[in-house]
Amino acid sequence: MDVELRELMQAFVLSDYQVQEVYSRFCLEIAKGLRRSTNSQSNTKCFPTYVQELPTGDEMGKYLALDLGGTNFRVLLVSLKGHHDATVESQIYAVPKDLMIGPGVELFDHIAECLAKFVHKHNMSSAYLPLGFTFSFPCVQAGLKEAMLTRWTKGFGCPGVEGEDVGRMLHEAIRRRGDADIAVVALLNDTTGTLMSCAHRNPECRVGVIVGTGCNACYVEHVDNVDLLDAQFKRKEKQIIVNCEWGAFGESGQLDFVRTEYDNEVDRKSINRAQQLFEKMTSGMYLGELVRLVLVRALERNAIFKGAGNRRAEYAAILQHNIDIFETKHISEIESDTFPELANTRRIINQLFGIEKASVEDCQKLRYICECISSRAATLVAIGISGLINRIADRKVVVGIDGSVYRYHPKFDTYIRNTMQKLVKSDKEFDIMLSEDGSGRGAALVAAVASKTK
Ligand code: GLC
Repeated sequence: MDVELRELMQAFVLSDYQVQEVYSRFCLEIAKGLRRSTNSQSNTKCFPTYVQELPTGDEMGKYLALDLGGTNFRVLLVSLKGHHDATVESQIYAVPKDLMIGPGVELFDHIAECLAKFVHKHNMSSAYLPLGFTFSFPCVQAGLKEAMLTRWTKGFGCPGVEGEDVGRMLHEAIRRRGDADIAVVALLNDTTGTLMSCAHRNPECRVGVIVGTGCNACYVEHVDNVDLLDAQFKRKEKQIIVNCEWGAFGESGQLDFVRTEYDNEVDRKSINRAQQLFEKMTSGMYLGELVRLVLVRALERNAIFKGAGNRRAEYAAILQHNIDIFETKHISEIESDTFPELANTRRIINQLFGIEKASVEDCQKLRYICECISSRAATLVAIGISGLINRIADRKVVVGIDGSVYRYHPKFDTYIRNTMQKLVKSDKEFDIMLSEDGSGRGAALVAAVASKTK
């Protein structure tokens, strides 16, 4: 790769020392999050989820599930069939942009409307239906059914929801309509859903990770290590799933030594400034924008599109003024490009920036930029996963993962495994499995656990 671009991208390459240092800081943060006396100073809140039973595979029953927190909102009907089996029918609904930042009550009314339509379509309007709500934002839980939103993340910002119980808000929206007999029996994070759905298939699963629009993980912790948990929850069960909310890591400056000027710029333009800094380096909502910002700088320094001649100013303007024009899915497409002379990459460059005949060299450069940004993200995710695995007593740990970045990026899994090889303690064994519909099946499984507990 040409020297100028390599120099520019050096800021994204983490040295072994930096990886170790981020790892130590991350482990410390989790330990602080779990302890009552230090939780308030910790970025990673380590919320107890009150899910204390992992699935056996024998669970049965029909459950509704809602999935809010990624790019789409979904309603699902899950039939748990025993023998580790389940079927899922689902419908995707858009969450219009204005609802993402409009009054919270309107968001919940929209959700209740979609739910009612779904139930009606499946001729279940008169049936009693228990519902598991996958609400993928940071929440303090008081039990399986109550979840108070602590802050919006991932571009959501509806007033009137932070500090409120989202289970109650959904319940009230359903009641206002009065056209379906649905009871919210469980609230869960998408990471919990991922862990549960993977544990349904593989009993060695102990960690659930999402690398999608946002980035987060949960894991199974021994109750004695969860100082935050009241004694009554430590009597019967010895384990509990903890939602780390690791996306917030770095808010006390722990990542400043590896953050770049581009990370600062992404943060500056976001609606949750100075928050979710780890998430802003690792998740789908931000990785594409990082690439665009690097491209702007590379063009300024004449390190890319050198053949553009007098059209440089025009290209620079397109790249500068179209925030979010380059999406994370383009990173996956470009890194997957196996066409001769990177024809697919050239097509993307043309389509997005109007640059018609990018040279092979330019395509390779853009690909290199993408690789640096995605491999840094994967390295950071692997640091987090390794930190969690090393806390778990079991010798073998399976990690369930989901999310668009992990799913569609051709090398994310390999990048993660490479870093994990270096960080996971040598007496341990790990494996990674892709989750099959954690937000649906996982929600139904938590709802099934909730029914049992009741
Ligand atoms: C954000 C949310 C978190 C969720 C993650 C993945 O980090 O705060 O709750 O799990 O995105 O969707």
